[in-house]
Amino acid sequence: MDATKLRRAIARTRLAPVAAFPKRLASVARHDSKVLRTSARWLVTSREHHNYTYELTTLSRHHLAWFVSVVCDLPVKQVRGYLAEIESDDALRRHIEHATARAARRGLADRKVRYARRIGWYAIVRATRPSHVVETGVDKGLGSCVLASALLRNADEGHPGRLTSLDINPEAGYLARTAPWSEVVDLVIGDSIASIAALDRPVDLFLHDSDHSRAHEKREFEAVESKLAPGAILLTDNVTATNVLAEHAERTGRRFLAYRETPADHWYPGDGIGVAW
Ligand SMILES: C[S@@+](CC[C@H](N)C(=O)[O-])C[C@H]1O[C@@H](n2cnc3c(N)ncnc32)[C@H](O)[C@@H]1O
Repeated sequence: MDATKLRRAIARTRLAPVAAFPKRLASVARHDSKVLRTSARWLVTSREHHNYTYELTTLSRHHLAWFVSVVCDLPVKQVRGYLAEIESDDALRRHIEHATARAARRGLADRKVRYARRIGWYAIVRATRPSHVVETGVDKGLGSCVLASALLRNADEGHPGRLTSLDINPEAGYLARTAPWSEVVDLVIGDSIASIAALDRPVDLFLHDSDHSRAHEKREFEAVESKLAPGAILLTDNVTATNVLAEHAERTGRRFLAYRETPADHWYPGDGIGVAW
């Protein structure tokens, strides 16, 4: 019996998993040792303990461009231009590096500026030119700076807009307290549900990125519904963990799409962007 016939014969028996064990072990060991190497490198080179930052893989960035292109109904080439625009914004990059180096929490922040999926938020703001963006959950203010930067570019082109950034932590948002970015940002400290209830201007773009529990995410989308401008877009940063925005979209007659990011050279599996429109 030749080797191929023997393998096929074994595959039909109860010995098959035992025979395949060395090959299966080698595959999983190759994968796990890569994750371990990446994790070990991160442990010694990064200072971050939550809200990790990283670059996207090239493929993940391509998919993000197409995702925004479909949602905003724009040519993908134009979206790629927006992604390149934020990535080559040296003034913003320098400001974040500088503010991070001086921050009270600098010991827990990496100096290198990496936006991950936030470049998608930027492209959506550039594409849709909202008058009022609301972001719940600010942390250091990296996302707020990215969103503010898009609003400033829109203003240069004759489409001004403001960002209301909501966080429960009074120390949040230190990156977004410097001009020119701070000139378009209203930082509101308090629980997001109460802050949403107090909004007094229609919201064109809403981003959930605060308490990532299912219940809180749901409460935010319910609270903001009566505050939305016609045709408003809803985003969630929690789309890899819950189906809350998809369910909200179905209840309110909207479309829904999800993008899952892939971090480059990082152990963290990544988050994503959920959108309802
Ligand atoms: C994941 S971080 C936000 C990340 C930020 N959007 C960015 O782009 O880096 C989550 C933030 O939500 C805030 N947060 C948690 N619960 C909250 C609540 N009930 N209301 C408002 N903010 C809350 C936390 O203080 C934290 O700063």
